[in-house]
Amino acid sequence: MNPVNLREYEEAAKNKLDPDIYHYFAGGAQDEVTLRANEAAFRRLMLVPRVLTGAGEPALDVTLPGTAASMPVLVAPTAFHRLADPEGELATGRAAAGAGVVMITAMLSTVAMEEVAATGVDLWFQCYLQPDLGYTESLVRRAEAAGCKALVITVDSPALRPGERARSALLELPPGLSCPNLGGDGDIRQVTLSPDISWKELDWLRGITSLPIVLKGILHPADADLAVAHGADAIIVSNHGGRQLDSAPATIDRLPLIATAVRGRVPVLLDGGVRRGTDVVKALALGATAVAVGRPVLWGLTVAGEEGVSRVLEMLRAELANALTLCGVGSARQVPRDLVVTDGPAAAP
Ligand code: FNR
Repeated sequence: MNPVNLREYEEAAKNKLDPDIYHYFAGGAQDEVTLRANEAAFRRLMLVPRVLTGAGEPALDVTLPGTAASMPVLVAPTAFHRLADPEGELATGRAAAGAGVVMITAMLSTVAMEEVAATGVDLWFQCYLQPDLGYTESLVRRAEAAGCKALVITVDSPALRPGERARSALLELPPGLSCPNLGGDGDIRQVTLSPDISWKELDWLRGITSLPIVLKGILHPADADLAVAHGADAIIVSNHGGRQLDSAPATIDRLPLIATAVRGRVPVLLDGGVRRGTDVVKALALGATAVAVGRPVLWGLTVAGEEGVSRVLEMLRAELANALTLCGVGSARQVPRDLVVTDGPAAAP
């Protein structure tokens, strides 16, 4: 049976995966309040279509820092793709390349960033700033040399996620899997998540590289403003897919405030709970330039490797094009704000 939407991909992946790995991918922190909130918040928003606009087939392409993309959907950074498929991030990279979308490869990738970049995909490298700045710099230089087009600095993780019975807690990687991005000269280092990291380290980073810097994990409009002031080239509104601070708000609910604070100075991206083309439309209408998807890519990868990721991305593309058409919108770059209303009786038109 071929899954016909992203939810069915999750079902199919669940049936195929070792339960510990399924829970590691699917789960969130603690009571999974934030995990559930991400998807629930999308469902509370409705789309009010416009008619007879004559908008034609919608154009889906967008411009992102350092990169053009065929549609406003990116592959979010998720760790350990070889838990889903033996080819891991290589398969994801080929599928993203084929789809013309940006892949953000994780510091905790199970395939080296150089090999993922060799698939020809437009690659962004996700990194946690390390207190050992020399180590951080070596990662940045590797990303530059590999041809990565942006650095994604995840800022929502000053500590490990709460471990207490969290379904998302993976104990250790099975034998044969490693994180070659952490290596240098054969010695594999640990990732340190440190509460000492501040805007000071970001300023340092800004000073050592000319790659675009994307800050991932912003939820407060004041932080969005600070990000722009400190030279970020884009931000990603994210709560880490509900895997870090449980009770962090749904990302789509934070987007309007953050878009207002940013005032168009840099692109605002969003991830968390995007499962349908209509979700993408809602995010674009509320001020996002693009969205990223995390778990659905892992489900596609589990079910059918490269082909599965391709199908997940093409499903989202087809749903997005259809949703924009049904809304009377001709371009993913110009989605009117008044398309989105909250569920319930209207107070105004
Ligand atoms: C993640 N995410 C993540 N983010 C990051 O910056 N570095 C990382 O290593 C990881 N690893 C990771 C593993 C797994 C299994 C998941 C599910 C997620 C978070 C990810 O980039 C993204 O923010 C969320 O996955 C988006 O939510 P959805 O699309 O999964 O709902």
